[in-house]
Amino acid sequence: MAEIDYSKRSFNYYPTNAIVYATCVDGRWSKPVVTNDFNFSVHCFGGVFHYAPSCFEGLKAYRGADGRVRLFRPDENAKRMASSAQYLDMPYPNMEMFLDLCIMCVQENWDCIPSFESGASLYLRPVLFGINPQLGIKSANDVMFCVMASGVGTYSGAKSLVPGSAVISRNYDRAATYGSGGYKLGANYAQSLHAYNLAHKMGYRELLFLDSATHSHIEEFGSSNFFGIKHGCYVTPNSPSVLPSITNKSLRKLAEEMGLKVERRTIFIDELETFEEVNSCGTAVVITPISRIDDKVTLESGTITREYKYADVCGPISEKLYHRMVNIQKGVEEDPYGWCMFVNDPK
Ligand code: PLP
Ligand code: COI
Repeated sequence: MAEIDYSKRSFNYYPTNAIVYATCVDGRWSKPVVTNDFNFSVHCFGGVFHYAPSCFEGLKAYRGADGRVRLFRPDENAKRMASSAQYLDMPYPNMEMFLDLCIMCVQENWDCIPSFESGASLYLRPVLFGINPQLGIKSANDVMFCVMASGVGTYSGAKSLVPGSAVISRNYDRAATYGSGGYKLGANYAQSLHAYNLAHKMGYRELLFLDSATHSHIEEFGSSNFFGIKHGCYVTPNSPSVLPSITNKSLRKLAEEMGLKVERRTIFIDELETFEEVNSCGTAVVITPISRIDDKVTLESGTITREYKYADVCGPISEKLYHRMVNIQKGVEEDPYGWCMFVNDPK
């Protein structure tokens, strides 16, 4: 078989061998099913098609320098899926089941895990959605939990740590003040699609959302959390409508380890001017530097663009954080916090 050139891949679906799923009907979970049929049959009155009782997760399996395969903090994904499902009032897999299906999915797709040298990874996408036929607005009683995988390159398709531009979303909010932004629901992403399309048409890579109540402070990017570096301090927003990112949580720990001060607090838009380094962070984007943020503000006299500019290369502190985290994920450096879970070779 021809070697795959992962440098040509971005964050997309690339065929893999199998998916793993289980259903919960009348409160009882089925045994997991492994199949190479990527289409499943769901009743057309299933809630997922109407009122979006649907949440998902994202985590990566890395082939390490030692050849062993690691999942990064999958227990955190299990907990976050549980909190999303609780918000939707629907059944969800417990920790053991979540981890078991993730492990099975990695093992079934063992030959699709990119090599250590490629710098790529096997992205796992656990999804949970309502399947029972219904018409009234009710939470789902019966659900399907499915874990699928794709061997992905970088999120943008560019080389790691190549900065991109972002625009502040002035006309569209991602999450309401008392809404679902702090949970990983499919519906949150549906809300961002149109705004993303407009931003991409204008040539921006990312969208930066503001708090929906006042449009005065930074919440997060559409795909990831925001963090900035200034005066030896790692600063990231603290808001219930921001997704609690596992990457951001890990970076905060690593920042402290590096002697940085860590602040989780409100970041007003004007403060963007004062950051030495700005990044997006998340499983898919890892750490992606932001070279410029445009804010198109409508005044009585018309629309003006305020530009916040950063370096065209990744900042030194962000780069150090990137390597520290990736080296732990890939077993190049010791994992002092026990973040990595090993997956055994199925053979
Ligand atoms: N914020 C949003 C909106 C996301 O989609 C993601 C991706 O999962 C993140 C933040 C980062 O979260 P994590 O680091 O857990 O992947
Ligand atoms: C991830 O980083 O795992 C995500 O889910 C983000 C994706 C929706 C772009």
